[in-house]
Amino acid sequence: MCGIVGYMGKENAMDIIINGLKHLEYRGYDSAGVAFVEKKKIKKIREKGKVDLLKKEIDKLKIITHSAIGHTRWATHGSPSKENTHPHSDCKNKIALVHNGIIENYLELKNLLKSKKHKFSSDTDTEVIAHLLEENLKHYPIFDSILNTINILKGSFALLFIFADYPELMIGVRKNSPLVFAEKDGDSFFSSDIIGISTYVDRAYFLEDETIVFLNKSKFSFFDFKGAEKKIPAKRIEKSSFFIEKKGFKHFMLKEIFEQPEAIRETIQDRYSIEDGTINIGIDKSLFEGIDKIKILSCGTSYHAGLIGSYFLESFGGVETSVILSSEYPYKELKEKETTLFIAISQSGETADTLKAIRKVKGKNRIIAITNVPESSITRESDNYVLTHCGPEISVAATKTFTSQVALLFLLSLQLSQQKNALNKKEIIKLLEELRKIPVQMEGVLNKSSLIEKSASKFYQKENFLYIGRWINYPVAMEGSLKLKEISYIFSEAYSGGQLKHGPISLIDEGTPLIAIAPEDRAKVKILSNIEEAKTRGAEIISIGTKGDSELLSLSDVMFSIPPVNEFLSPFLTIVYAQLFAYYIALRRGVDIDQPRNLAKSVTVE
Ligand code: M6R
Repeated sequence: MCGIVGYMGKENAMDIIINGLKHLEYRGYDSAGVAFVEKKKIKKIREKGKVDLLKKEIDKLKIITHSAIGHTRWATHGSPSKENTHPHSDCKNKIALVHNGIIENYLELKNLLKSKKHKFSSDTDTEVIAHLLEENLKHYPIFDSILNTINILKGSFALLFIFADYPELMIGVRKNSPLVFAEKDGDSFFSSDIIGISTYVDRAYFLEDETIVFLNKSKFSFFDFKGAEKKIPAKRIEKSSFFIEKKGFKHFMLKEIFEQPEAIRETIQDRYSIEDGTINIGIDKSLFEGIDKIKILSCGTSYHAGLIGSYFLESFGGVETSVILSSEYPYKELKEKETTLFIAISQSGETADTLKAIRKVKGKNRIIAITNVPESSITRESDNYVLTHCGPEISVAATKTFTSQVALLFLLSLQLSQQKNALNKKEIIKLLEELRKIPVQMEGVLNKSSLIEKSASKFYQKENFLYIGRWINYPVAMEGSLKLKEISYIFSEAYSGGQLKHGPISLIDEGTPLIAIAPEDRAKVKILSNIEEAKTRGAEIISIGTKGDSELLSLSDVMFSIPPVNEFLSPFLTIVYAQLFAYYIALRRGVDIDQPRNLAKSVTVE
């Protein structure tokens, strides 16, 4: 979950590396570093903290070089100290490398290398690679040494190497961690994600697993892990209509919350026709043929989107659906029947847990991936994929990708329903019409953001929150609670309203804030009782309900209202209040909203 960038060409590499690392900071921001070759010596600049600190240091030193590698780190092995900051080197400082991923057998290798008198200067797993390569270089030429080294490593790695003795050489390696290579007018670029270099290039090579890129000056070739040359086609990069700028918003998160209506419009447009009540999200009919079960695999916010989607799939498509955390799926001892369809949801398309889970069923079961990143690993490893069209999501806290995933699941379930004749045409048209209205209704909710800001100023000093919801808004409560935890560092927990009395109600005391998601729907009467039970015990009630609901209003200390909508569609609106609430609480608490501590946007470790 780190970001790596490499450049070799006519420009000052430092500008390109720093710019790339800034774009990749969503992958981790514990520390950052660069390395380059000067007079046949490896030079490194490394700083604990964010890329801006590294930039300051580089600017101070006025470095100009035409080839360099860089890294922004999310610490896994070893604390986020300067010593553990990448790039790392061998004993003689002849090699420098940056790494994204995890070397699972590093301890075993470290012990072996220590027995051969190698001296280590960090606690990272990465450093073993430099020493292993150094050891190989004692006996073999460079290319063979690379092959020997990477074939011993277990785990996941995207690597970039430079060499003091070969200043015109840069080697990139990909296994289970993303890496993109691009070339334009003799300049060459590497990046963990196309976003790191998309300003400079129009086409790129999205490297497949087990690929080596051998770059010598401006000449490059691709090889597999056995050393055989291979061809990879360059692909055009789709530049998004959403900009990677804050556009006047204080944070990316707030901008992305406000982009939700547009992200949903972009995601659903051209995928259905209201006139004839048909849906076509671009997946083959055969995917739904004969299925009797659906299993959704996902993590975090995507898991919550999956939970909401499961109600659509069961109610509209009539297929029993379960949602499983990808990180738990590998432990299940199941013989999946061929008639089970898998849906993997991941905004980044790089989540290692989800990737591992789908690999378990790949080749045996049909898989549909829902991601926001066209060339991501999950997209490429799934037989079929459908994209949300949200543009890049920079804030670590997912918002617009969540609601777009839900919109896509809504359409997917209607397509399933259409194919299975579960709902009739009239019913499908009605639901499509309601979905089409959602972006405008969302704008209405967003227009009330100042109300949320005001109430956040009342609650921001609370030390814990409870969230409750029922049925389709239970996952909204979970997502609202996750948002609050993630960016404000306040402890919160979400429960189904019906579960309060089974234990958590004992947490409620005078003044405990309880956020109740209670719009007009089939669960409304029951959740009102749950709110009442909490209020009787002293809870302060912040509710999100339907406009004109006087009963809910009378129970609430603060109430935010959504317009009356189809009960299946309320999560699109209730979640916006929950996102804004978390945002304004975090703003008041003065934390780093876009890059909360200990987190990273793309979680490429298990
Ligand atoms: O990229 P993915 O959707 O697979 O990511 C899954 C989770 O890591 C992610 O949703 C995480 O929980 C977010 N930070 C939530 O805001």
